[in-house]
Amino acid sequence: MLITVTAFAHHKGGTGKTTTCLQVAGFLVKSGRRVLVIDTDPQANATLGLGIHPDTPARNIYHYYSSQNSPDTDPVSLASLIIRTISNIDLIPSHLDLVGAESLLYQNPERYEILAREVASLKDRYDHILIDTPPFLGQFLLNGIIAADRTVIVFSPDSFALNGYENIRLILSDIEEILNKKIQIKMAVLNRWSLPVSEQSFFSKISARFTRQTKSDQTEEIKHILEDQMKREVGLVIQVPESQQVGLSNRRGMPLAFSHPEDPAAKAFEQIAQALDQG
Ligand SMILES: Nc1ncnc2c1ncn2[C@@H]1O[C@H](COP(=O)(O)OP(=O)(O)O)[C@@H](O)[C@H]1O
Ligand SMILES: [Mg+2]
Repeated sequence: MLITVTAFAHHKGGTGKTTTCLQVAGFLVKSGRRVLVIDTDPQANATLGLGIHPDTPARNIYHYYSSQNSPDTDPVSLASLIIRTISNIDLIPSHLDLVGAESLLYQNPERYEILAREVASLKDRYDHILIDTPPFLGQFLLNGIIAADRTVIVFSPDSFALNGYENIRLILSDIEEILNKKIQIKMAVLNRWSLPVSEQSFFSKISARFTRQTKSDQTEEIKHILEDQMKREVGLVIQVPESQQVGLSNRRGMPLAFSHPEDPAAKAFEQIAQALDQG
């Protein structure tokens, strides 16, 4: 099997990147794959979502990045940071300290390749390496994307405007220019795709244009426009419904694959895991 490295990305927070990364990791592990999650977001939500308090591990991804930049410190290897979590997903944890490593990187001419360099050396240990990236356009997002073979973009209704994909495409082409690397977008995940209209700020703005239709007609129409656009641009598009179980699972540190595999959102995450596993 081909070992793959996948980054989960979107430049906005709260779209479901971390959730998708962890839930997909759960299904991959359940099907017998060896999975490593690398948390590269200082908010450390992937770390928390796997049941690890960021203060608990003695070292985290901050130590990797900062040691790569300082000639006075012994390099800390990525491999030395790996911990096994209760769901048998391996994790390289993050910590708020990571914020402090960003400015150190500016001096480093190879700053975009720091993660990629050692991720490559972990490929013989895992079937899948999943990288959770932060919701801002900085060094850690760029490092995550360049270390990955492919990127999954996670959208939520709130993150969309009708030009939502154009925005992200522009950002990605800027990144491609900086990195001099073509970004392989594997799929678009349309997360929380079944929110009631009243809770969707974007949908409610757009729906004013369709005044003669019922609210649910409007929602369906807008969703179809966006889905069609994604299908044209990205090819593979998977929808994930809203589910209360998602938040509970994140808080418990236990993926739905193990606690509620029949939940409709879990089924969607399983489909994403299968698509990633097929290469
Ligand atoms: N499909 C879903 N159903 C219900 N809640 C969700 C769903 N996806 C994400 N959430 C919740 O939305 C919040 C933001 O998700 P998260 O994955 O942390 O976003 P990001 O990593 O993009 O910032 C979290 O509280 C998470 O539990
Ligand atoms: Mg996140």
